Amino acid sequence: MKFFIDTANLADIREARDLGILDGVTTNPSLMAKEGISGEANILKHYEAICQIVDGDVSAEVIATDYEGIITEGKRLAALAPNIVVKVPMIKDGIKAIRYFSDHDIRTNCTLVFSAGQAILAAKAGATYLSPFIGRIDDVNWDGMDLILQIAEIYAIQGYDTEILAASIRNSKHIVDAARSGADVVTCPLSAILGLIKHPLTDIGLAQFLNDHKKANA
Ligand code: G3P
Repeated sequence: MKFFIDTANLADIREARDLGILDGVTTNPSLMAKEGISGEANILKHYEAICQIVDGDVSAEVIATDYEGIITEGKRLAALAPNIVVKVPMIKDGIKAIRYFSDHDIRTNCTLVFSAGQAILAAKAGATYLSPFIGRIDDVNWDGMDLILQIAEIYAIQGYDTEILAASIRNSKHIVDAARSGADVVTCPLSAILGLIKHPLTDIGLAQFLNDHKKANA
């Protein structure tokens, strides 16, 4: 399973990259706004900065919601760097645009996915990645991880190449559950990645090892 970081914060991206486990980055308009990035020129510059930090895929989301607008904006984003993946919302014009991008060798990430039906359509249109939003489904008391299981089963039966990118990951348990459920990729905040490291028995065991070493070498 690939690890992407879900942020536009350059320090967090560098920290995850330096761990040696980072395969890519996903962003969205909310994450860009959180970093205070606004205006088209600044947004494009920020994507270039992210692409200089990581070799892996960087999802850059379009703001347009009409077909022509998505195509124009997506081409501009894709031209920034070879590792840019154009993130397109799951709407009617988005599906048409994903088909266009797929036919023109521009890779896509279909975002805001909340159902297996949407997942089938995105795969048919040729999406490179599919982003089901696990946390937001859990937020409304449905089962986000069950959607990953359903999509993984359908994609395996149908032989679709689209990679399942579990998004809206909120904690470390989500990462483990996504791995068990057949996600190809997880995208998560740095805190969820670092949370995987922590276990109280590791801390207790290490303290004991160091203490025993200290006593034996006193
Ligand atoms: O990037 C899309 C997704 O990961 C958003 O997560 O936490 O805002 O639901 P969240």
